[in-house]
Amino acid sequence: MKQFKRTLVTTALPYANGPVHIGHLAGVYVPADIYVRYLRLKGKDVLLIGGSDEHGVPITLKARKEGITPQDVVDKYHRIIEDSFRDFGISFDVYSRTSRKIHYETASQFFRTLYDKGEFIEKESEQYYDDEAKQFLADRYITGTCPHCGKDGAYGDQCESCGTSLNATDLINPKSTISGSTPVMKSTKHWYLPLDKHEPFLRQWILEGHKEWKSNVYGQCKSWLDLGLQPRAVSRDLDWGVPVPVDGADGKVLYVWFDAPIGYISATRELTPDWEKYWKDDECRLLHFIGKDNIVFHCIVFPAMLKAEGSYILPENVPANEFLNLEGDKISTSRNWAVWLHEYLIDFKDKQDVLRYVLTANAPETKDNDFTWKDFQARNNNELVAIYGNFVNRSMVLTQKYYDGKVPALGTLTDFDKETLDSIGAIVKSTEEALENFKFREAIKEAMNLARLGNKYLADTEPWKLIKTDPDRVPTIMNIALQITANLAILTEPFLPFSAQKLRNMLNMGEANWKLCGNKEILMTGHTINEPSLLFDKIEDDAIQIQLNRLEQTKLANQAETKTAAPAKANVSYDEFSTMDIRIGTILEAEKVAKTKKLLKLKIDTGIDQRTVVSGIAEYFQPEEIIGQQVSILVNLAPRNIKGIDSQGMILMAEDADGKLVFVTPSSKVKNGSEVK
Ligand code: 2FM
Ligand code: ZN
Repeated sequence: MKQFKRTLVTTALPYANGPVHIGHLAGVYVPADIYVRYLRLKGKDVLLIGGSDEHGVPITLKARKEGITPQDVVDKYHRIIEDSFRDFGISFDVYSRTSRKIHYETASQFFRTLYDKGEFIEKESEQYYDDEAKQFLADRYITGTCPHCGKDGAYGDQCESCGTSLNATDLINPKSTISGSTPVMKSTKHWYLPLDKHEPFLRQWILEGHKEWKSNVYGQCKSWLDLGLQPRAVSRDLDWGVPVPVDGADGKVLYVWFDAPIGYISATRELTPDWEKYWKDDECRLLHFIGKDNIVFHCIVFPAMLKAEGSYILPENVPANEFLNLEGDKISTSRNWAVWLHEYLIDFKDKQDVLRYVLTANAPETKDNDFTWKDFQARNNNELVAIYGNFVNRSMVLTQKYYDGKVPALGTLTDFDKETLDSIGAIVKSTEEALENFKFREAIKEAMNLARLGNKYLADTEPWKLIKTDPDRVPTIMNIALQITANLAILTEPFLPFSAQKLRNMLNMGEANWKLCGNKEILMTGHTINEPSLLFDKIEDDAIQIQLNRLEQTKLANQAETKTAAPAKANVSYDEFSTMDIRIGTILEAEKVAKTKKLLKLKIDTGIDQRTVVSGIAEYFQPEEIIGQQVSILVNLAPRNIKGIDSQGMILMAEDADGKLVFVTPSSKVKNGSEVK
């Protein structure tokens, strides 16, 4: 395997439109921090790069909603996010932000190089435009009725109700969220990165060259590549972002996903004039720590950008994680379903390491995982307190008691002593191996095995009994227990930096150094240790109950919100209403639409004809149970092609507060074709 002189670790830049939560920590920042701390302890040349992602439409939307500027939004959250990371010991060498001047320069220059090299395609396309507000509309600025589930309020890029990704032009009755007017189509020019051109290289580089990548990452890349890559627009019509640095591009900015990864470069430039040693030298290894929703951008789009630019190295690995859920539900900022880091520290003061521990031991490394408060409590009480804390405390208290805090000398070693001392090295080695392979769950488990080893050693040798029956044997036992403790203070530093530091202070040790790890004589005979204090304490049921109650409140509040009926829409005239031709029809046939979860293909007798309608009701009805069902159908809705099927009309459904759909049917059977007026 290639040996590298330096390592550059980047962490996904979080959007500065909200605080950070446990999902962020578990997925990206704790694993990256563990890895970097480990390399630093080994004396390696390594940088940890982070920053806030301050562009993009959600930030402009939030600003508009709150009546403040986008800069106000990002100023507020950048500070909160930066504080949270610092409080949790995420040891960034630099934590920058993409609204800084150095980033504007770096991103513009990057774009300009690609532009000058002819690496972009320029294309005119028709996009929605708000004629009242005089601006083009990003997909998120357009809402309308979802063509799949019929629900109002779907966004131009996605219906949050049924989860389908959409194009803005798919929306029925689109409206601009800026002025409320109906947008018109207008031609606009954008720059595209021809990913298709880079596809052969990417296939070779990833599929042949990086078979060692985590299977979730490799698998996602393979699916994208197998589907075939298309040119991607790298600019947008928006007034918030890095202006497109070419003439005639007024009102256009770089697409947030173009400028954000360049933010890693800007941050490194901000940190050191030697930044090129990390970005433009084959001897440096570039690693991106990200969550699974960012895989395509870091494994396909950004490498294509770097390759096209020509002077940068490409990532060596992208150890992306899956998602963390909370008490069985997807973490959601808008539903306030999260454990916010700044709030956690109010309730669990000085317990950063407990959260770091639980999130690492239960990290969503290969599949989505669930964070539960009960598990949090159990891992604290049964592992950190009962194993780590207990062992450390016993070894230190007994040393104080028997030897006045001085490390006693080793005597003759029994086979058991030798075995125990040898196990230290073995545990260090397996922890290291797991760390090198980005297997942090396994690594923390191995590191905890060192505390388990110590506990078992004391339990088996029982120095508190021997002190009466065989006092000459006790110095050896306590010396070994202390060497294990000192090893723990180094081995657990990457995972539990606060506690490991506290432990090193108690042991009166110097700075941690990985070279000492596995050493059987870290503490010299006669070395004086300090008074011990508890590293971890028990978390009681009532502290957990408070958290569970809070989540319950959130759930109730969310339910109450969805139960409130949507406000009435603007009036329409009778003439407008009567343009809609709604009939009663009967479902004759129904089948699932292949490769979709929500769609059924229905054949309807409308009394006028028999026609096909695609309807987003598959989650609520089995095809066979709705044959013969009378339904209301809007028959003069313009036909639409949905998943390759011509859908002619729309079935009307009523939706209850939980999103459940039911048919709107006549209260007694009527002839097909009867008009609904
Ligand atoms: O998904 C996100 O939160 C993005 N803001 C991540 C950007 S990563 C990088 F490209 F900056
Ligand atoms: Zn929908």
